[in-house]
Amino acid sequence: MKNYLFVSVTILTALVGFQSCSEKQPKPIKKNVQYVAGADEVTYIKLGNEIVDTVQATLKGNLVKAMQEGGPVNAVSFCNAKAMELTDVYSLKYSTDVKRVSDRNRNGKNAPNQKELEVLEDFRHTLEIGQPLSPKVAIDAEGKKHYYAPIFIGGVCLTCHGDVKNMQPELVHAIDSLYPNDKAKGYVVDELRGLWSIRFKNS
Ligand code: HEC
Repeated sequence: MKNYLFVSVTILTALVGFQSCSEKQPKPIKKNVQYVAGADEVTYIKLGNEIVDTVQATLKGNLVKAMQEGGPVNAVSFCNAKAMELTDVYSLKYSTDVKRVSDRNRNGKNAPNQKELEVLEDFRHTLEIGQPLSPKVAIDAEGKKHYYAPIFIGGVCLTCHGDVKNMQPELVHAIDSLYPNDKAKGYVVDELRGLWSIRFKNS
């Protein structure tokens, strides 16, 4: 994930940097979200990264297995039934709430809350102005630490999140029947797909 993140950010930085040559005024940086710095940042980013790596590896392993066993249509039913369950298992293990959220979501339950929306906007803005993007820690109204990390679209994701024209018709059908309000098609490689959002309950 880290390598991928690095490559994505490098490519985007290069692209945005190139574009900005023709712009007269750089956009001002928004200051909606305050992030934590110092020892707490180091601790919770390390913990958050560990959780993301573990959950991501499990999700990916299961997805690949389901695709191999019954193709992408089978994998969609799997994702539908199991994605939430899996993140719940890790939530218990680490005493955290682990979520994958997106403003262009497939499952409405993965819609971002106000704070997550602000972080998403901040991350998008960071990419637009060509700054490097990395996981962040913020504190909520109750004083709990939250970890946020970007999720990017890779080639394999386009099978189910890409342009409908390039997707298998039976797969599109399966997705649309399970998710009538799906907003998660039409992504391109390296696009910001959403966020990992982890709340540390005991922090
Ligand atoms: C086999 C089809 C399939 C593939 C391949 C796939 N996804 Fe998904 N994705 C889904 C389904 C189905 C859901 C809805 C899961 C649920 O109900 O929680 C989903 C949900 C998500 C969500 C949660 C937010 C939302 O939209 O509900 C994220 C984030 C996500 N996918 C990212 C990715 C990324 C990144 C990749 C590539 C590494 C990927 N997906 C590959 C089918 C797929």
